[in-house]
Amino acid sequence: MYTVRKVVDDLYWIGGNDHRLALFENIFPIPRGVSYNSYLLLDEKTVVFDSVDWSVAREYLRHIELLLEGRPLDYMVIHHMEPDHCAAIDEVCLRYPNVKVISSEQGFQIMNQIGYHIKDEQKVIVKEGDTFSFGKHTLAFVEAPMVHWPEVLMSFDTSNGVLFSADAFGSFGAIDGKLFNDEVNFDRDWLDDARRYYTNIVGKYGPFVQDVLKKASTLPIKYICPLHGLVWRNNLAYFIEKYDKWSKYEPEEEGVMIAYASMYGNTEYAAQSLATALCERGMTEVVVHDVSNTDVSQLISDTFKYSHIVLASVTYNLGIYPVMKDFINDMQALNVQNRTVALIENGTWACTVGDLMEEYIDENLKLVDVLNDRVTVNTALNDANVKDVDALADAIIDSIKIIKEVKEKANS
Ligand SMILES: Cc1cc2nc3c(=O)[nH]c(=O)nc-3n(C[C@H](O)[C@H](O)[C@H](O)COP(=O)(O)O)c2cc1C
Ligand SMILES: [Fe+2]
Ligand SMILES: [Fe+2]
Repeated sequence: MYTVRKVVDDLYWIGGNDHRLALFENIFPIPRGVSYNSYLLLDEKTVVFDSVDWSVAREYLRHIELLLEGRPLDYMVIHHMEPDHCAAIDEVCLRYPNVKVISSEQGFQIMNQIGYHIKDEQKVIVKEGDTFSFGKHTLAFVEAPMVHWPEVLMSFDTSNGVLFSADAFGSFGAIDGKLFNDEVNFDRDWLDDARRYYTNIVGKYGPFVQDVLKKASTLPIKYICPLHGLVWRNNLAYFIEKYDKWSKYEPEEEGVMIAYASMYGNTEYAAQSLATALCERGMTEVVVHDVSNTDVSQLISDTFKYSHIVLASVTYNLGIYPVMKDFINDMQALNVQNRTVALIENGTWACTVGDLMEEYIDENLKLVDVLNDRVTVNTALNDANVKDVDALADAIIDSIKIIKEVKEKANS
């Protein structure tokens, strides 16, 4: 029916896709668009789960009307009060004045701050451990503070194993008719955007995600219904494991991301020569990014993905090249830890950038080791540098070997 899809008996996806928004949160590029997911339960009572961004509110409201077929709307559950999900709450309350709104205490506070004045008799305040029955379906509420806002709730339908996970397990990318993880090639087409979404939006809050994962591990979850992206109905362990790794700041791959900052191409060439040396040694899990034309959200995503990060930068007015500085600042802001970093520096008259980057990392990033084998380029890569690049490649390969051995020992 129109763009509505059935998730499981009694439950429907009623959200919308946005291909017009260039920047999610006015900061993250979303070339594949984004979906705002909402769900509707037809039980003895009728229940809408969250609302949507204003950009797709018209279709959302239409879906509610269609599915209700004249029945009243009894409840609206609000898991998260960020405006990409709560924009249409007011409109739902106007259209269905008898609807009761279920949310956390802080959820109602934020509604009030936004200017949605829900009447006291309309409010149902829930907290961790509370349950609420709509007939056949009973919801158990789970608090998920700081994943990634303080008021966030998740809820679990004990009758069918559906977890409404709020922004957790979401992704950038419009779903465009597809709904379930098994309707796409997730690894090929979705994992990168799911990682970029998680690491940039939730990445800072790893310990809070760990808390929720612990709670979730006690629930017999069969479906995960997030507020963006695909619904998960099989192979849940695969995605939960990704979340476990990301939130523990453990790399997914033993591999190398080389991020370079170069004005005239010489530092770029040094970065490329390191990539070549690594590949020649059999380490082909290597990606190279120009910080000046790669969105920092992509750099962060690959920082969470790979075990080894190489920062190659020019010296700029005795400082770190501004775009590289932004990237390193963002690493700190998102709590990046548990990585090995190598440095390539370049300067023409006073090369300070290597020391500055190392100092910043030592002072601000937890559990990040900087390898001793730094490559120092004096304007352009020369014959003497070749052995330094080879030594750095060897050091990175050795370090990866050691990490693999430690991991294997821990697993055996
Ligand atoms: C605006 C500007 C400021 C620079 N400041 C410094 C500096 O403070 N110290 C230094 O050694 N080199 C400085 N350089 C030289 C760069 O580090 C130079 O671009 C680099 O050595 C060549 O690398 P590239 O081809 O990757 O840009 C500066 C260059 C520019 C254009
Ligand atoms: Fe959010
Ligand atoms: Fe969201």
